[in-house]
Amino acid sequence: MSIKEDLIKRLKNKDAKMAILGLGYVGLPLAVVFAEAGFQVTGVDPDQRKMDALAKGESYIPDVKNEAVAKLIQSGKFTATTDFSVLQEMDAVSICVPTPLRQTGDPDMSFIISATEELAKYVHKGMVVVLESTTYPGTTRELLLPKLGLEHGLQVGEDWFLAFSPERVDPGRKDFTTINTPKVMGGITEACGEVATAWYEGAIKTVYQVSTAEAAEMSKLLENTFRMINIGLVNELAIMCEQLGVDVWEVIEAAATKPFGFMKFTPGPGLGGHCIPIDPLYLSWKMKSFNYNARFIDLASEINTNMPRYVVSRMLDAMNDRGKTLKGSKVLILGVAYKPDIDDVRESPALDVIGLLRKKGADVQYHDPYIPHIHHEYDGWQMDSVTDLMAAVKAADAAIIVTNHKQYDYAAIIESASFVFDTRNATGKLSKNSEKVVRL
Ligand SMILES: NC(=O)c1ccc[n+]([C@@H]2O[C@H](COP(=O)([O-])OP(=O)(O)OC[C@H]3O[C@@H](n4cnc5c(N)ncnc54)[C@H](O)[C@@H]3O)[C@@H](O)[C@H]2O)c1
Repeated sequence: MSIKEDLIKRLKNKDAKMAILGLGYVGLPLAVVFAEAGFQVTGVDPDQRKMDALAKGESYIPDVKNEAVAKLIQSGKFTATTDFSVLQEMDAVSICVPTPLRQTGDPDMSFIISATEELAKYVHKGMVVVLESTTYPGTTRELLLPKLGLEHGLQVGEDWFLAFSPERVDPGRKDFTTINTPKVMGGITEACGEVATAWYEGAIKTVYQVSTAEAAEMSKLLENTFRMINIGLVNELAIMCEQLGVDVWEVIEAAATKPFGFMKFTPGPGLGGHCIPIDPLYLSWKMKSFNYNARFIDLASEINTNMPRYVVSRMLDAMNDRGKTLKGSKVLILGVAYKPDIDDVRESPALDVIGLLRKKGADVQYHDPYIPHIHHEYDGWQMDSVTDLMAAVKAADAAIIVTNHKQYDYAAIIESASFVFDTRNATGKLSKNSEKVVRL
């Protein structure tokens, strides 16, 4: 039996030992899904606090329940450690480490590089490695393949196997989760794709194999670039509608009645999260090495990045109309998470809105039921969420709905507030004909 056949057999029988490198929003749910499917899973992450929490059966990711972690830890199906040497015993390793941007806007590959360098110490014949982190096309072949295989004299596709499978999880979503969101898989060779597909099919309902790692890398960037550009388009539509005196939200609802050829996107205060604002920039960065300028990405990025500034300029106008200035006014931000009903503030436009309001001299507070504390890494400010929401609404000169969390009672907020600027149409019909509410 060849190395490939033997590994596929063990993966299908779930006798193969597997590890997940990086147990964050992506890695922890993935580890749980594989362990619940019957694999022996080891999570490896340098964050001691996270590993301690898991050892106690506690989850730090809202989509993963404490009970699920506790049950798997007790049964021995899942272990979590900061010790990378466990990788020497592994047959299958999935890499789920962060891929942020540097302050310059270029990809920060340091986490992928450090995880790969750790793994390179233990890579061996009969191992399959899958990179899940979103990255520029070519990363798996150009960066991982030399460090993990070539430098060790291992023949990829024969001695060991390497593939890319983009993570598509949408935190907070209940209908499509890790287990039932189809997974794209592309190997460095055909055999690599086959082995990795056989592994993931043991836990994920649908695995869609493409011919190369690059096709898989690019498919993720298409998905998120598609979203970023369409959000840029509706953000610009909102700016145009305001100048035309047309209600952008009514326009979008009307267009969305078309049963084909239109997909609804909504404007907002800017892009947030770990994916949509960042991933397309990995592609445009890579294209620069071909002297190619990714124009759609640049334009959408410019429009989206400018939205917090646009929100603040609309606030200035709205306050002016009410005979007030932003300087010295009490402004309450409602919701700072980058999207509703989650606890993630990464890249949230709320941080920019707050920073800009502070620069204009506003006295800013915020409320978010999911995020008790925020800080701005570069500007150096920090603040705690107000605890008494309605008292803060009453005391403020203006409230800005930045994140439309479901649990807010928008009717009560409008009732108590002096003035509300709604960047998400969270107030919908409630704000029709209300003098107190201005929508984006
Ligand atoms: N969060 C999402 O919604 C989402 C969705 C799709 C894709 N992704 C992509 O998945 C990847 C991971 O994102 P995330 O949100 O899970 O990040 P995260 O920050 O929540 O988790 C990453 C984990 O990796 C750990 N880590 C850092 N360096 C490591 C190393 N050298 N070895 C092992 N572990 C290491 C960190 O301690 C952390 O726990 C990123 O590329 C991201 O773009 C994220």
